[in-house]
Amino acid sequence: MENIAWDDKFNIGVDVIDKAHAKLFRIMNKLIDMSEDEENNQTTYKEGIKYLEAYSMTHFSEEESYMRSIRYQGYAQHKKVHDNFRDKTLVTLKKDLESSNYSTASVQRFVGIMNNWLTEHIMMQDQAIVGRIVNRKGFDLTSQIPVISRVLNRAMTEVFQTEAKFVSADYKGQNFGKALYCCYFCDTESGIRLQLLLGIEETLFLRAVKQQGVTGNLTEDETLQIFGQLFQIISKLFRVETEYELDRDNLLTRDGFRANFMKGYPCSLLFSTKSGYFVFCYRSWRVKKRKSEADGKTV
Ligand code: FEO
Repeated sequence: MENIAWDDKFNIGVDVIDKAHAKLFRIMNKLIDMSEDEENNQTTYKEGIKYLEAYSMTHFSEEESYMRSIRYQGYAQHKKVHDNFRDKTLVTLKKDLESSNYSTASVQRFVGIMNNWLTEHIMMQDQAIVGRIVNRKGFDLTSQIPVISRVLNRAMTEVFQTEAKFVSADYKGQNFGKALYCCYFCDTESGIRLQLLLGIEETLFLRAVKQQGVTGNLTEDETLQIFGQLFQIISKLFRVETEYELDRDNLLTRDGFRANFMKGYPCSLLFSTKSGYFVFCYRSWRVKKRKSEADGKTV
């Protein structure tokens, strides 16, 4: 795994906060270095993760204290994001570490997701403390997450017999293990085309085919069939009018997924299950004119 680079654009101009962010990057890089050295063991990883977690909490507390000192209006909302990270994201990530007995892959996954969360958080919420608001095109997912999570949980339970837990709304394309990828298109009744993108750890697929009594390697047809079942359930999130058939072209390699992801998905969510992680992304654009536009009327 490559080291992560600090960028001066992360500075918000408050010394104590900028130094803490830079230190968090250094600790994450130390963990990456450790994970590249085969001599290191679970005890070393455990200590490193514990230190990263403790320092993150110290930083949150210092930053919250600064926000209170300047009577920052977004304090309550910002603190909620910190609390949510501590009580949900971190708890889920630590379960992954523990269930794999602090394997090298799980440590690298931990650092990848933590880095992704921190970078996004610094650029969105921390910059806002000093009045620099960088909003993701005004796309506010907060109210949609419970609904999306419920539908994805139903899909995971029906297809993989496992529960899905929401981890992060800030998935940025990082690798989370060997996975299978697929994209899917459908049109809604209101003339919007949706592109859905799923990336699912292979362990989940192997679990599904094993339950169906299939042994050996997963074929492309089996993979497509499973993605098809998932998309059938997920597309109920939207008022779908036209569905497009899945074929082999819809399956993506890791590079294909990354290239597709880089086109920009305003909704990109990371979930965990007992058997592995998965990501769900969607984007949309208008393909049919509204009736009033087609009739030449101004809306
Ligand atoms: Fe720097 Fe809000 O954490």
